[in-house]
Amino acid sequence: MIEYLAEVNLTHHQSDITPEERQKLFDFLNSLGQHCSREQSDLIPILQGAQSRIGYLPAEAMLGIAEYLGIPEIDVYSVATFYNQFRLNPPGKHSIRVCLGTACHIGGGHIILDAWKRRLGIDKKQTTPDREFDLDTVACVGCCAMAPVTVIDSTEVHGKVSPTRVDGLLLGYKLQKEKEASA
Ligand code: FES
Repeated sequence: MIEYLAEVNLTHHQSDITPEERQKLFDFLNSLGQHCSREQSDLIPILQGAQSRIGYLPAEAMLGIAEYLGIPEIDVYSVATFYNQFRLNPPGKHSIRVCLGTACHIGGGHIILDAWKRRLGIDKKQTTPDREFDLDTVACVGCCAMAPVTVIDSTEVHGKVSPTRVDGLLLGYKLQKEKEASA
């Protein structure tokens, strides 16, 4: 149990749960008995409900759900990590998605992913501790002629991205944040 928790905390959770999220989790767990049985077959809908309420699945949520269903924590953790729909880290203010479809892969997508990882100090599927950015990869986003491509916040498509361009994009966000802070 302690080893399991350490693994969850160290390898997947860079950001601590906030007091507001803890309260949402508490309310969610307390309301479970009204809508859900304690059957293991309810695990996926319960995980979906927790993620929809909190925004992601903190370790505390998985532990609470395991306790509710009376199953080992590792079973909950295994299901949550098996399905792509579940996220173990909180959403960042900005989502960075690096395309690794065929054209982008050939065009250096992995170099761009490494550049984002280094600049942000996180791995893919993680969130920066200040929750400004989360990072992940996507399959082809349909702009292969612009490979390698990075999509930010689902709407901004950046093509022909280079490591220098990654620096430029991050500088833009930093300047914007400073401007907002001084406004
Ligand atoms: S492979 Fe990246 S946009 Fe198509």
